[in-house]
Amino acid sequence: MTDVGIDAIEIWTGKLKLDLPNTFAPAKGEDPEKYTKGLGLNASSFPDTYEDIVTMGANAAHRLMEHEGLTPEDIGRIDVATESSFDNSKPVSTYIAGCLERVYEGKFSHANKGERKFACLAGTQSIDDAYNWIKSGRNRGRSALVIATDTALYARNDPGEATQGAGAVAMLISEDPDLVSLSTEQGYGSADETDFLKPNQQFPSVDGKRSVQVYLARMREALEDFEGVAGRTHTDDFAYIPFHTPFPGMVRKAALFGYRHMIRDTSMEDDLAGEIGRQPREEAFDSEGDFEEALREYMDGLKRTDAYQEWYARVVDPTLTISREVGNWYTGSVHLARASALKTAFEEGRELAGERLLVGSYGSGAQAEIHAETVQPGWEEKIADLTIDEGIERRYDLDYDEYERVHDVHNHDIESDGDGEIEEFTAPESEFVFDGWGRMGERKYRFVE
Ligand code: HMG
Repeated sequence: MTDVGIDAIEIWTGKLKLDLPNTFAPAKGEDPEKYTKGLGLNASSFPDTYEDIVTMGANAAHRLMEHEGLTPEDIGRIDVATESSFDNSKPVSTYIAGCLERVYEGKFSHANKGERKFACLAGTQSIDDAYNWIKSGRNRGRSALVIATDTALYARNDPGEATQGAGAVAMLISEDPDLVSLSTEQGYGSADETDFLKPNQQFPSVDGKRSVQVYLARMREALEDFEGVAGRTHTDDFAYIPFHTPFPGMVRKAALFGYRHMIRDTSMEDDLAGEIGRQPREEAFDSEGDFEEALREYMDGLKRTDAYQEWYARVVDPTLTISREVGNWYTGSVHLARASALKTAFEEGRELAGERLLVGSYGSGAQAEIHAETVQPGWEEKIADLTIDEGIERRYDLDYDEYERVHDVHNHDIESDGDGEIEEFTAPESEFVFDGWGRMGERKYRFVE
């Protein structure tokens, strides 16, 4: 059976930037290091006034199709993953296909289109759907386009405000992929949770501190489930471990738990025992409180060991480089993490073909999914095509007043002022833009040369 996986990827960032230490922190009266060191973020991306989930998704997909020399007839399926949708019936994929049909002669008339929702997990689930569609032989030789696109905005003054972001990741899922193939084995950790939700509202209701605990718990369950089918994981099995990254500080926590799990009952645990003792085992304690206290102490020690720090710097930190500059993109976030890692390897001239990644996706509500990927021989060429560095570099740097205005422009509950004219901060070029509303309340788009 042939391999199936990600053949190519393209990333589109929202064209505005909110600088967290220099613009956001002073306005909030916070220490800039809360953001840079605590959360691990330097900046967030925002959509300009003419950008939304459709334009960002269509622009990422358009660039991908251009790099790959694809026409609409090559695509048998378009799935959009988003938690920022504006229509309960018409899927965003139809809008994106409509945009793309403006610049291509052919049409996506025979492509199956849909929209996937499970908070930030839906991007990975859409890849899954595409994988299954191809594996079942229903694809007729065609590829699937998976587009994860979100405007991850929080209400102003919500603690989540510092973790906002906006952008889209477009991925081509094909047989014999050039970037990574996906493992058949998967693990899930899933439970009915209310850590983060948007009950018919634009901005999320978030129990921030709890959401961190729910993320860790579901990720642990998913890893155990994965190991149940794929066998035990070890710290040296994977070149990189990209996680869903709401903010890099979250991944710092998850990585430490993962490492502790992977070294348990191995020679590495024995090697570290002289320095920090062995891992506390629950059965050795009279109360849960004592066990948890011992665990905290062990984790504090583990975090400081050279072995852990070297592993983290090599396997996890490279997954965070894009996220640090753009914030949380919800459905696109874990796919940014994979791209960051591969981009770092490319820049370091590292030989990666045949190496494996362990990918940990998560969506509030809540579910984690873990699977492995194998880097393919064509990966370098595909990563060389990425344009995200230029996208990050060219963003317009908002001052705080401008940030508030742009946040209002994208707030569905606030009418735009004056005669409907709203200010743009950047000039669109060779891209799709929002072009107002149609008679049925639909959104309209055009391509700006
Ligand atoms: P907060 O309560 O304002 O921040 O918001 P804090 O006080 O907890 O500080 C954050 C970290 O900075 C802490 O580090 C502080 O110690 C540190 P920690 O102790 O956790 O390691 N800190 C500093 N460090 C250095 N110098 C300083 C300083 N000050 C503080 N001066 C919170 C944090 C996560 C609650 C907030 O950002 C939030 O609500 N975010 C939104 C929810 C979220 O992202 N949750 C993550 C897990 S859920 C998830 O990933 C799903 C999601 O993507 C949605 C989906 O699936 O659709 C969100």
